[in-house]
Amino acid sequence: MSAIDLAGKNVLVTGGSSGIGAAVVELFLALGARVSAVDIQPPDGSKPDAATRLQADVCAEQDCLRVTAEAIAAMGSIDALVNCAGIPDTYTPTLSQSAQSWQRIVDVDLTGTYLMCKAVGTHMAQRRSGSMVNISSIVGLGGFPRRNAYGASKAGVIMLTKSLASEWGSLGIRVNCIAPGYIRTPLVETLIRENKVDTGQIERRTPMARLGHPREIAHAAAYLSSEWASFITGATLPVDGGWSAFGGAGDIGAA
Ligand SMILES: NC(=O)c1ccc[n+]([C@@H]2O[C@H](COP(=O)([O-])OP(=O)(O)OC[C@H]3O[C@@H](n4cnc5c(N)ncnc54)[C@H](O)[C@@H]3O)[C@@H](O)[C@H]2O)c1
Repeated sequence: MSAIDLAGKNVLVTGGSSGIGAAVVELFLALGARVSAVDIQPPDGSKPDAATRLQADVCAEQDCLRVTAEAIAAMGSIDALVNCAGIPDTYTPTLSQSAQSWQRIVDVDLTGTYLMCKAVGTHMAQRRSGSMVNISSIVGLGGFPRRNAYGASKAGVIMLTKSLASEWGSLGIRVNCIAPGYIRTPLVETLIRENKVDTGQIERRTPMARLGHPREIAHAAAYLSSEWASFITGATLPVDGGWSAFGGAGDIGAA
């Protein structure tokens, strides 16, 4: 193997219409994979590519089972799953948060990942082969005020990854996780516009002094989905410009 090569791989990507998921679809197609892209948004058809576009709400088990079957019908099999569907927290102070908002975030960010792993895992277990990549966050590694449901879900994704990797390793299924830092996606651009994210503060706190690009998460997902990661399972890879490595006081320059 001279380079990361996904030729001949059949890949299902959730959240494939925007941000990190869209970057994964684009890169995996470029690396030779066949891709089925799932999203809750209907396919818009404005930027046609070679991906099969499927619609589902990952919180609904029947939807997960249906799109898994549709992806297998379209591609013949699923070799790799990349779970990018997700929603942000509300940034509301905890004492004003609603239980409904907590539940919706946990449903999408944690239960949705679990249901897709389970649906596709049934197929991969039969084939005794496969790779799954889940998307956690730096918010699943450290405590962030007001982001209870998101942080608990993203920490849960890390442990879900470890427990599935432990159970399914003997079946030839690898399960890994990426913990991105702040990445410039439509989700984060909205949070910046709403003054919920201060890019200057993030740049000062990040050793590499910038936000990430969606393709930098796609690169890590391609590596973890490829034969180059053939002995890696249960791992969480921070892709965060050093955010989670830094433990000093205040801004990186002042620490
Ligand atoms: N952008 C960041 O800085 C960042 C950092 C860490 C983790 N993440 C995680 O990365 C993932 C992708 O985030 P993004 O920034 O690309 O967001 P995004 O909003 O740009 O894309 C998310 C996609 O998921 C889809 N989606 C949402 N709910 C869904 C559901 N119930 N069923 C199916 N699809 C659904 C959306 O329609 C959208 O296309 C999320 O899990 C997010 O928590 C993002």
